[in-house]
Amino acid sequence: MFSFFAIFLSALLAGSAYSCPHVEHSGATRRLYQEGLEIARMNNIRRQTTSAAAKSIAITNVRVFDGDKLLPLGSVYIAGGFIAPYAEGAEVVDGNGGVLLSGLIDAHAHPSSVAHLEAFASNGVTTAIVASCFPAAVCKSLLNHAGLPDVRFPGVSANTPNSSHALLLGLQLNETITSASQAPAFVADQLATGATFIKLIAEHPDSATTLDQATMNALVTSAHANQLRVAGHAADYAAVHRTLTAHVDQAHHVPTDIPLDAPLISRFVSQGTISVPTLSIFTTFLAAGQIDEAGYAAANTSVTRLRAAGVPILAGTDSNDLPAPFTLPFGSSLHTELELLVQAGLSTVEALRSATVLAAHHNLLFDRGVVAPGMRADLLLISGDPIANISATRNIQRVWIAGVEYAGVETS
Ligand SMILES: *[C@@H]1O[C@H](CO)[C@@H](O)[C@H](O)[C@H]1NC(C)=O
Ligand SMILES: *[C@@H]1O[C@H](CO)[C@@H](O)[C@H](O)[C@H]1NC(C)=O
Ligand SMILES: *[C@@H]1O[C@H](CO)[C@@H](O)[C@H](O)[C@H]1NC(C)=O
Ligand SMILES: *[C@@H]1O[C@H](CO)[C@@H](O)[C@H](O)[C@H]1NC(C)=O
Repeated sequence: MFSFFAIFLSALLAGSAYSCPHVEHSGATRRLYQEGLEIARMNNIRRQTTSAAAKSIAITNVRVFDGDKLLPLGSVYIAGGFIAPYAEGAEVVDGNGGVLLSGLIDAHAHPSSVAHLEAFASNGVTTAIVASCFPAAVCKSLLNHAGLPDVRFPGVSANTPNSSHALLLGLQLNETITSASQAPAFVADQLATGATFIKLIAEHPDSATTLDQATMNALVTSAHANQLRVAGHAADYAAVHRTLTAHVDQAHHVPTDIPLDAPLISRFVSQGTISVPTLSIFTTFLAAGQIDEAGYAAANTSVTRLRAAGVPILAGTDSNDLPAPFTLPFGSSLHTELELLVQAGLSTVEALRSATVLAAHHNLLFDRGVVAPGMRADLLLISGDPIANISATRNIQRVWIAGVEYAGVETS
């Protein structure tokens, strides 16, 4: 019943160089829009029945990952939902010599229901950056669920009416953009839905219906005029080139046709553009035969080169609830992404930073991402040493979200 995410993923494929299904506007897309509104209604009902209270907690006998290294064994205090220097009369939780991380952030995901937020929580993902809303009401309905992950979203992604993404997403005509002059209104519409950033879709320039360069440029100008950052979808080399020309702040995905090379990577560096490679979804596409080994190698090489050039890399998954073989689970896939980033050449510390302090910083979430007094008490307690072996992040013991322990963790 959440099949509109299936459509989103197909859209991702359609926007790349390797696949271009022809899809007509049909009654089906309109029905899917209604389905989204129904999901939003259910999420909103669920919120009213959710209650959770933050208490004072002392997590003892833990080694904190401070964004750089593991500190010696010590205690971390939580009071009023935030990390505190000390908390009088706190309930003691023995960390058993485990490692305490800042809650993980998935910088590119497609949750639509409370169940998806619960899957994130049980895997230690405490913040999800939603990569596009379908429709915006779904994203809004994921806000403010006490004890569950926090979300940020861009409203609907910017597409022309007849682009493959717009057709596949079933975007309503008044949710699309056809010219640069409409950019201010498009950005204002997204802001009105609660968007905290803008997302635009750059397809291969051979596509007659992709956003033109002037419209992408204008979207970035309008977003920046509203202090909003811009994430650009670009899954092929030429599309990355176009998003860099538009000066997006974040390039989402990496090319699977031609690896990023020195000319493009030097533009990431000089323009301060960051990357959210989403290697996990490319392994899913590889397994499904949507890309071949060379396609995955291009994505992997792009990450190796971005990292070597010092471009900030954020862990994002493209997690979604598409039917097999495309589906990518919420939460557990972020641990996969960390492993894939390490396989592409990031150090384990760099991988941990990509899902914590860097993800927070580059999404302007200055209240989280590090374990320090004054920060939101979004915390993940694991056993084992994730600096020695990144897979240790999967050894989840306990999770707190804004100081509320998530009860549904399956300890491993
Ligand atoms: C979209 O495509 C349809 C069918 O080809 C065409 O009739 C319509 O004018 C196009 N709309 C825009 C905004 O280009
Ligand atoms: C688009 O139109 C629908 C109904 O026609 C309306 O409810 C919605 O608010 C409009 N959206 C925008 C962004 O103007
Ligand atoms: C990914 O890149 C790393 C570092 O360059 C390399 O060692 C590894 O073999 C690559 N993996 C794939 C699947 O291409
Ligand atoms: C990391 O741990 C996993 C799971 O225990 C194991 O399969 C893998 O071989 C380890 N990797 C390294 C580099 O030790």
